[in-house]
Amino acid sequence: EAVTKDSKSDDAGTKDPLLIRAAKGEKTERTPVWMMRQAGRHIKEYRDLCKKYPTFRQRSEIPEVAVEVSLQPWRNYKTDGCILFSDILTPLPGVGCEFTIDEKLGPIMEPIKNWDDVKKMHPIDPSTAAPFVAETLKILRDEVGPETAVLGFVGCPYTLATYMIEGKTSKEYLEIKKMAFNEPKLLHAILQNLADSIGDYALYQVENGAQLIQIFDSWAGHLSPRDYEEFAAPYQKQILDKVKKHHPEVPTVIYIKHSGALIERMAGTGVDVVSLDWTVDMAEGRERIANGRKAAGLKGPGGVQGNLDPGVLLANHDTIKERAEEILKKAGSTGHVMNLGHGIEACTPEENAHHFIETVRNFRHKD
Ligand code: CP3
Repeated sequence: EAVTKDSKSDDAGTKDPLLIRAAKGEKTERTPVWMMRQAGRHIKEYRDLCKKYPTFRQRSEIPEVAVEVSLQPWRNYKTDGCILFSDILTPLPGVGCEFTIDEKLGPIMEPIKNWDDVKKMHPIDPSTAAPFVAETLKILRDEVGPETAVLGFVGCPYTLATYMIEGKTSKEYLEIKKMAFNEPKLLHAILQNLADSIGDYALYQVENGAQLIQIFDSWAGHLSPRDYEEFAAPYQKQILDKVKKHHPEVPTVIYIKHSGALIERMAGTGVDVVSLDWTVDMAEGRERIANGRKAAGLKGPGGVQGNLDPGVLLANHDTIKERAEEILKKAGSTGHVMNLGHGIEACTPEENAHHFIETVRNFRHKD
């Protein structure tokens, strides 16, 4: 053999997947893409599987089923990321808070009201609380190969606490706000317990195959900037810092819905990528991320994810292409992971999701 190229000397064999390189702020040959909430409701194969496994807890906690559901959008559309099929609430039984998912009403829990309830919380041991997550991640890593990134995720303390204190999904979050303003120490105790355990749970995902961690503080955009700084940001930061301390090579992403007022603050946490919802212009968002990092003494412009309105996927193919390409151009070829501004809607036609992913995969930057 004249020239031997084993996998170590071959550049492609040692390179991180495209999505991970973009999340680390690198320039990429094309922009990687995935969709928040890409697994599940909008896919017919998933709805069929629900007949056999009627509860969400079964679908997300039986590894073979969770693997299959995670792979469905990746197989159908060739997304650059494959996200673990699970939920932000999945680790909560591990801290002493049981939950169920009602197919119509969403998450249901016994609400935490007082110090006696808080005393029942305990630190998580992920390997007994969620061994199925480790097994699912390991299988996914084998299944998707070296070019796709396996994505892990956790919910942030504030957003998790909305479910734990309201007992269900909420529109106005009045119970948690009553606690924040009348008994802030009680809320801080809950948030601190969560930050410790969710940080460990994020590490557990990384140690079992997750190549990126996205932290969801979906409902923190309902807080005033002042209260965001007290009740959300410090706990996000504890989770991010724990991941960075043990696994500096793993990029982190933060997502908050309605985060227009908070972008600089999100960037200032030191997260690698800020995921924008669709209410902000991509070019302005990038500038504000860079400013937020600078103000916090952080180096570099930071990465960005997003930010197509999920409603655009209900439009015709030409409009989907036009709107997606506008964002790709504004974001540029460096440090951008294309995504929706929130989860894909359940009523989205699969062919439209497919067209969106194809559009992004075929797009090339001029520079
Ligand atoms: O949507 C977001 O803002 C992302 C963060 C988030 C997730 N779960 C992540 C997730 C939030 C806020 C939740 C809470 C939750 N859990 C809800 C929303 C209720 C509300 O208050 O609006 C619901 C319906 C659940 C239960 C749940 N989670 C179901 C029934 C499913 C499966 C199919 C579906 O999408 O309805 C999930 C999956 C889920 N939740 C994933 C993630 C990241 C799966 C992986 C993916 O494909 O992204």
